[in-house]
Amino acid sequence: MTLALFDDPPPEPRKAREALGPGACMLPGFALPFVDELLPAIEALTARAPFRHLVTPGGFTMSVALTNCGALGWTSDRHGYRYSATDPASGLPWPPMPDPFMRLAREAAAAAGFSGVSGFAPDACLVNRYAPGARLSLHQDKDERDHGAPIVSVSLGMPATFLFGGLARTDKPARVPLVHGDVVVWGGPDRLRFHGVLPLKDQPHPLASQLGATRINLTFRKAG
Ligand code: SIN
Ligand code: FE2
Repeated sequence: MTLALFDDPPPEPRKAREALGPGACMLPGFALPFVDELLPAIEALTARAPFRHLVTPGGFTMSVALTNCGALGWTSDRHGYRYSATDPASGLPWPPMPDPFMRLAREAAAAAGFSGVSGFAPDACLVNRYAPGARLSLHQDKDERDHGAPIVSVSLGMPATFLFGGLARTDKPARVPLVHGDVVVWGGPDRLRFHGVLPLKDQPHPLASQLGATRINLTFRKAG
């Protein structure tokens, strides 16, 4: 009989920065110090601009619920995808980008190497809410005017599997497990890589008492 000592190697310690490409990386737990400020800000902004399930130009209702904050918000209907300065549901401007959102986005971009001339200056933040079963099919973020700025994507709540593909839809995507507090940044040569999220599994997470069985994702962009 052999000892099973080496059958189960201990899990690799999580690195401070996990490269996903020349201009893309995952920053494990980077958002954790911001969470206490993010949660009340999310509550306040969703009271003004509630989550909604948008319809795609093809007529499908998205399984992910969405709202926005910042000068511009992403929206979709039968006529197409676009950024708008007002919430089509209310006709009012989107709630302003909360301070801790902006600080987190800028610090994460800088940590990923996008500190530029004066750093990342997002004018749009999409707030996505996933319930178990919700998914996001492979897509490129290309409705923004400025592809020179990176995308900063923050995961809160339930874990998810992020799909990070190539520049062609048919490139086989890498599967990147994301947990509460992780941040993914992609820009430069990786700015237009296809990406998506596998159907969310109902799993325990550290914020269950506040968020229940949901995952919230914040994506920061320079849209206008
Ligand atoms: C997105 O692609 O806009 C969201 C990605 C995510 O939820 O992690
Ligand atoms: Fe996206």
